[in-house]
Amino acid sequence: MDELPEAIRFLHETEMGLGTWAWGDRMVWNYGKGYSDADIDEAFRVSVEGGITFMDSAEVYGNGRSERLLGQFIKKSEKPILTATKFFPMPWRWTKNTVVNALKASLERLELKAVDLYQIHWPSPLVPIETYAEGLALLQKAGLTRAVGVSNYDQIQMQRAYTVLAKYDIPLASNQVEYHLLNRKIEKNGLLARCQELNIRLIAYSPLAMGLLTGKYTPETPPPGVRGGKYATSLKNIQPLLKLMVEIGQDWGGKTPAQIALNWCICKGTLPIPGAKNARQAEMNAGAIGWRLTPEQVKALDTASDSFSK
Ligand SMILES: NC(=O)c1ccc[n+]([C@@H]2O[C@H](COP(=O)([O-])OP(=O)(O)OC[C@H]3O[C@@H](n4cnc5c(N)ncnc54)[C@H](OP(=O)(O)O)[C@@H]3O)[C@@H](O)[C@H]2O)c1
Repeated sequence: MDELPEAIRFLHETEMGLGTWAWGDRMVWNYGKGYSDADIDEAFRVSVEGGITFMDSAEVYGNGRSERLLGQFIKKSEKPILTATKFFPMPWRWTKNTVVNALKASLERLELKAVDLYQIHWPSPLVPIETYAEGLALLQKAGLTRAVGVSNYDQIQMQRAYTVLAKYDIPLASNQVEYHLLNRKIEKNGLLARCQELNIRLIAYSPLAMGLLTGKYTPETPPPGVRGGKYATSLKNIQPLLKLMVEIGQDWGGKTPAQIALNWCICKGTLPIPGAKNARQAEMNAGAIGWRLTPEQVKALDTASDSFSK
């Protein structure tokens, strides 16, 4: 870790973060039904108490509400918080300056002078990778973000962003992609290995497969809304995997499937950012750090997920 550039070291020292997509989102997460701002406030507080200080937001989450709530919680927090947010490639954003202006608007909502990590949320089908990477470089040079990253970039797109930033001596700090026991594409297509070679921190999003890997949903009681449709087949297939996760959890004094799922991501060298809607979920998820599954347990989980994981 000594040879890592100072600007990105914090990411490599972070075991796990907290995802804030559900904080204000009604379309996927039913914000306002079953959890309120007070619950989210508690989720933040309990996470920080449990040692989770890296928070991942985005300008589009809840149309800015996630950033606003996060900003309010940060102000009250006694511990320093590492803040990450994201730029969305809206079709009218054609220039590098749109990246700069978008972060300035995020900083207003967050009530911060700078963030720790600013990420391009998705590659644009219209704008070259290089244009937004130039925007990231401007922001880091201006001190509006400590480090810069991308999200949902494949190997080629990631390499292109890396090359632009390298011209300015700026490391590409991270690539945030979907990764969990039901989706191991990045292990199979080489993206994870490439990130590790380049010291790019792989941030694993939806590490609980949007709640499926907690074991609380079954084929008879699927998750509500769009998640139910997305995971209808998986729910049948994953029952033996969930059984194994319970058994492995028992070897660790009663760790839950959620904690096993998150620890598995950490053991693979990634930084998971599970979402939490309330104190109970946040507390459980924080119990996934500070210990490691054995290599044999990781292998057993790999084998159990091999037949149906992507
Ligand atoms: N870059 C991107 O394109 C992208 C895409 C997706 C997500 N993300 C990031 O990744 C973060 C996490 O992903 P995610 O929110 O999609 O999915 P996730 O972390 O896999 O699942 C989160 C959901 O699972 C349930 N849950 C969490 N902990 C639980 C526990 N201990 N016990 C029981 N249920 C629990 C909650 O929903 P219920 O209670 O409703 O089940 C919670 O909202 C997001 O918040 C966001 O920051 C980024």
